[in-house]
Amino acid sequence: MFNINDFWRETVNLAYNREKYTEEFISSILTPNNITKNDLIWDVSAGTGFLSLDLLERGYNVIFSDGDSDMIKQFAQEAERIGLEAESKLIHWEYLLEKYNKQPKLIINRGNSLGYAATWRKEGFDARESYTQVMNALNNFYKLLQPEGFLIQDCVKKGDEEHFYEFGTMTLEGKTCELEWERKSFPEEERSEWTIILRSHDKERQIMNNSYNITGESLTGMLEETGFRNIEPVNLETEQLYKAYLARK
Ligand SMILES: C[S@@+](CC[C@H](N)C(=O)[O-])C[C@H]1O[C@@H](n2cnc3c(N)ncnc32)[C@H](O)[C@@H]1O
Repeated sequence: MFNINDFWRETVNLAYNREKYTEEFISSILTPNNITKNDLIWDVSAGTGFLSLDLLERGYNVIFSDGDSDMIKQFAQEAERIGLEAESKLIHWEYLLEKYNKQPKLIINRGNSLGYAATWRKEGFDARESYTQVMNALNNFYKLLQPEGFLIQDCVKKGDEEHFYEFGTMTLEGKTCELEWERKSFPEEERSEWTIILRSHDKERQIMNNSYNITGESLTGMLEETGFRNIEPVNLETEQLYKAYLARK
């Protein structure tokens, strides 16, 4: 049965030029901040391995984790497809400190993942619970990093809080479908709604997921509250969907 993770795997390949994105990530973020192939990088929402498997392929020292067991399987398939030996560990952000004792120089949490801390592939939404999980996650990222380490954290772009995107055609479970997605924002409920719409010739399917509503402004505030400093937006021309921020421990 098709799920949001299948959709995400295909979407990153439709929306991004992986080669160019990775090169720009290295030249705009890693190299200027002296993050070298000797330094440990931890992708804490590894998903299907977009970006972090690409960094591993280029010789960077990357470890991977994700809180969704289905994503762990998708990651394994993707690593095998590329021909890389890599494993993503099943770790929910709540338990990051308990599960691993390595201190990375860089934590990557991309793909607008943070707001889903309490809700990824879950029904319903509780604003307090979501906020608590988001702040717990940021606190754990902070504690986990080595002194002076960095966090790359993205969120929706300013002015893009509500949008409708047409992504084009993808093949899922052998069927060709047209992919669209809609994002709505309900700031008074602290909630965002992300609906994926798949149309094939005979039917339409919709999948909806709620997240905690995070903007660049609120993200900066939450990072500051956690203790991060030097919080700067990063200009990535190849970033199609989100706005990335670099923050320092
Ligand atoms: C939109 S996907 C992004 C995946 C990947 N970072 C990328 O850019 O392609 C969101 C990911 O965040 C992960 N995630 C959400 N909440 C999490 C949590 N509390 N702990 C660990 N992973 C979480 C999901 O399992 C999912 O893989």
